[in-house]
Amino acid sequence: MTSNQSNIKKSKKYLDNNKCISVPTETVYGLAANAYSNDAVRKIFVLKKRPKNNPLIIHYYSLSNVKNDCILNKKFFLLYKKFCPGPLTFILKLKKENQISKIATNNKKLVAIRFPKHPLLRKLLKKLKYPLAAPSANIYSKLSPVRASDVKDEFGKKIKFILDGGECKIGIESTIINLVGKPKILRLGGLEVGKIKKVLNMPISLNINPKIKNFPGQSKLHYSPGIPLIMNAKKERRNGAFITLKKSNINKKNYFYLSKNGDLSHAAKNLYSTLRKIKKKGYKSISIEKIDNYGMGLAINDRLKRAEKNDN
Ligand code: TXA
Ligand code: MG
Repeated sequence: MTSNQSNIKKSKKYLDNNKCISVPTETVYGLAANAYSNDAVRKIFVLKKRPKNNPLIIHYYSLSNVKNDCILNKKFFLLYKKFCPGPLTFILKLKKENQISKIATNNKKLVAIRFPKHPLLRKLLKKLKYPLAAPSANIYSKLSPVRASDVKDEFGKKIKFILDGGECKIGIESTIINLVGKPKILRLGGLEVGKIKKVLNMPISLNINPKIKNFPGQSKLHYSPGIPLIMNAKKERRNGAFITLKKSNINKKNYFYLSKNGDLSHAAKNLYSTLRKIKKKGYKSISIEKIDNYGMGLAINDRLKRAEKNDN
């Protein structure tokens, strides 16, 4: 048996026993448990210190699994065909007779679902008799983890098992689209909205900043590196670090870059790990140069804005 096979077996055993473990996805690491068990889902909220009224995303292997729990519509099928498995989360209506834990959905009639792409997680999901409820595997309001070691930093011994799937390819959370009524984007993320628009061939409103409590990523504290973050900066602050989009010629130890050549997808992939690294090295603040606001730059700026609001 390869180590991946034995780790999948181990993961299944924990999950079948209603334990909560960390799993890799293509976006960020998740804190996963049996979505059909109140007992299991409760453990996620406790470990993550997450408010009970903030619902979780349910992760499925395939369409046939999801059909029993949710009401699927035309727009869903169009997007599913094009982008799944992948970094897109759908908000849909629950079926009356669904099996999902009411604790995971905060007793609402709508549910967030997605089909993650990471091959190791897909192998695991295929073996399970239930989908996985999984928020990002960080303590509430902190940075999402993109490596097994980040999850360990967040939870230490409190986490029973981490299925190590290497570094996350996308590095930023999934895009969330509400498909009940007119399509609305609730969170910018790993799938560019322009690509979604092309498939649906209709305008899609961005609803990412409503003043409603518990909207995706809207908690006052969110994506926080734990030190002040300053956007659109020209240089670092005293005892602080500076981040550029492209690798620069300046060779200073407090200078970091998000991508070698300025590619915004690479930058998104490296964002959280760079913020984490800077905090770990003991710098007192993070200044970051202006990042172009298109393509994946939109999601990067969204996360930076939320982090900036928190720590200044
Ligand atoms: O990439 C991702 O989506 C990662 C990986 C692990 O899959 N997961 C993730 O989960 O980012 P989480 O819990 O950190 O963020 C999910 C967001 C939350 O802000 C939550 O409020 C929102 O989705 N959400 C969940 N159910 C919802 C619903 N029915 N309506 C509106 N928003 C919902
Ligand atoms: Mg999160």
